[in-house]
Amino acid sequence: MIRHELPAASWPTAAEAEAAMLFSPLRLGPITAQSRTWVPAMVPWRATEDGFVSRDVIDWYGRFADGCPGVLVVEATGIRDVPSGPLLRAGHDRFVPGLRQLADTVRERSGGRTRLLLQLIDFLSIRRRPEKAKFFARFLTLTDRHREAMAATDDEVVRQRLAAADDDTLRRVLTAREYRDYAWGYRDEVNDVHLQHVRELPQVLPGLFAAAAQRVEAAGFDGVELHYAHAYTMASFLSKTNVRDDGYGGSRAARLRLPLEVFTAVRAAVGDGFAVGTRFLGDEVIEGGSRIEDAIEYGVAFARAGFDFLSVSKGGKFDDARQPKVGEAAYPYTGPSGHECMPTVRSDERGPFGRNVHLAAAIRRAVRAAGAATPVVAAGGIGEFALAEGILQRGEADAIGAARQSLADPDWWEKMRLGRGAEIRRCIYTNYCEGLDQKHKQVTCQLWDRDFDPDEPEIPRSHDGKRRLLPPPWQTR
Ligand SMILES: Cc1cc2nc3c(=O)[nH]c(=O)nc-3n(C[C@H](O)[C@H](O)[C@H](O)COP(=O)(O)O)c2cc1C
Ligand code: SF4
Repeated sequence: MIRHELPAASWPTAAEAEAAMLFSPLRLGPITAQSRTWVPAMVPWRATEDGFVSRDVIDWYGRFADGCPGVLVVEATGIRDVPSGPLLRAGHDRFVPGLRQLADTVRERSGGRTRLLLQLIDFLSIRRRPEKAKFFARFLTLTDRHREAMAATDDEVVRQRLAAADDDTLRRVLTAREYRDYAWGYRDEVNDVHLQHVRELPQVLPGLFAAAAQRVEAAGFDGVELHYAHAYTMASFLSKTNVRDDGYGGSRAARLRLPLEVFTAVRAAVGDGFAVGTRFLGDEVIEGGSRIEDAIEYGVAFARAGFDFLSVSKGGKFDDARQPKVGEAAYPYTGPSGHECMPTVRSDERGPFGRNVHLAAAIRRAVRAAGAATPVVAAGGIGEFALAEGILQRGEADAIGAARQSLADPDWWEKMRLGRGAEIRRCIYTNYCEGLDQKHKQVTCQLWDRDFDPDEPEIPRSHDGKRRLLPPPWQTR
């Protein structure tokens, strides 16, 4: 493990910025972004407990809009009408007015210069890691394997003996899946076709995604990004670990089937002027998972199907997540794949800066070779001008996604464009923000969340009252 220094930044003059590819327009199917600057989805834990847009959500995206990125993607938003805590939802028409207010705010505060997308997500159920006694008394379905290993026929005795067994014994006696349910917490998988709600996903999801996209369009957004990345349902269908035998798993073509059917349903449900893109993984970074060879085939298939953009991410899976504490749920950004998703300065020799660009570049090359012009978005440790402009100039990507740098300083795009790069507050890539996300706490940045100016009017604070929820204003505008 090496601790990397932030690379020296070279910022453009206003004239250089004006001539830069970074600040040139980009067609995304039916819409045009005014620049190739892109804020990828980030969940800030600010929605109401029942999934509505709150005042804090509006302030949050309004603050990003101040920096006028070419594209701003609103956080992963659930397509179903089911309780899911303070995560945004688009699973019912009652969510539309709040989303409309959000879209209006972003349009106003960016002066119409930011195209606003929303990321649509479906996720399967996941439970917290259970207490040992409870798991063996209630949750585990007993089989003859357990009865034999515990040398008892009375199920109560089998349960008691399992509850008293040490970890080595449990690893031997339980199946890999049972051990995982015990030690990490139960979660549904797309391979669980014995469960009706999992078996029916291919029948249910196209309609759910399509209806949610329609609501997002009705709310005045410019498009949607279908979340086919990280630890969630659609990424699991694309995963090489998907072995469903119902025509939706196994071969690459079968794994692609549902993602393409979802796209077809969404495209048919929304108007011609509405962009539909996707975020998917260039590499899952898990044992037995999809690699760049799979992602290249997916990218080409998505481009041919008519997706308006392809945003490439990496890792972020449950499969290698760190073991959670009892009472907590596994978090997909804790293991090696999670580290690849949000790389930090504590890294290998390659370091975090532009670490995942080669994946976007390989996908883009294949898409172009297939004759499609679909734009490709790269992200991961991109936080300075020379790196961003170089990626575009070399044709490695068509747009530059910067999540954490935009959180550290949402005005950084405007500061760059105006030749005032020296005023940029640079992300230090140590993942304090990700730690808050992991604890489901309101996400803020360590570079500004204790920065209180006594002359500033009252600003919203975190639930514990200690942190400001919004980046300080750019004083010298
Ligand atoms: C707090 C936080 C929340 C995130 N939430 C999402 C999300 O909802 N959807 C998504 O696709 N990626 C999410 N990400 C990943 C980012 O979009 C991005 O891919 C990642 O941080 C790497 O880019 P960066 O180095 O520019 O930050 C999140 C990242 C952070 C830090
Ligand atoms: S908390 Fe750290 S990693 Fe996150 S945006 Fe701020 S400086 Fe960057």
